[in-house]
Amino acid sequence: MKIFIDSANVEDITLAASLGVVDGVTTNPSLIAKEDVDIHTRIHQICELVDGPVSAEVVTTEWEAMVEEGIDLSAIHDNVVVKVPIGSAGLRAVVKLREKNINTNVTLIFNPSQAILAAKAGASYVSPFVGRLDDITLPGMDMVRDMVQIFQNYDFTTKVLVASIRHPVHFLEAAKMGADVVTIPPQLLHQLLKHPLTD
Ligand code: E4P
Repeated sequence: MKIFIDSANVEDITLAASLGVVDGVTTNPSLIAKEDVDIHTRIHQICELVDGPVSAEVVTTEWEAMVEEGIDLSAIHDNVVVKVPIGSAGLRAVVKLREKNINTNVTLIFNPSQAILAAKAGASYVSPFVGRLDDITLPGMDMVRDMVQIFQNYDFTTKVLVASIRHPVHFLEAAKMGADVVTIPPQLLHQLLKHPLTD
């Protein structure tokens, strides 16, 4: 299972990367906004810190604009993965970006059917949001279990990237289910190292 860091903070990403377990990074507009820096500068900095996929999200809502924004973001670095929201505009953008050999991460996935459609459109990754489902008392990890099974059934090459992870049980369950990737907040990475008996 690949481990991505869900952050746009350079200090947090640097520290996490120094532990030798970080395979990539995901960002979103809220994480970038916290940093008070323009997205191009920050995504470039992150790509220099971590040699792996770095998701940068579009903020436009029309498919043509998403494609333009995606092309612009992908020009920052070869490792950029363009994050687009699920929906008809998002899928149309995925198709066009794929034609241009640009990798995509379809985000804001809340059920396996959305993930199937994103995979068929050619998404490189799908991001099911488990914590936000848990927040509304729906079992987020059940969605991931179904998704992993369905993708195996049909040999989909799209990777299941478990997002909106809030605690160590999400991380462990994702690993047991065979998810391809988890993206975790930096503090959770440090929390995973801790055990009272180790101390
Ligand atoms: C990552 O790709 C997602 O944007 C992120 O995990 C969402 O997490 P949140 O639900 O805690 O905002």
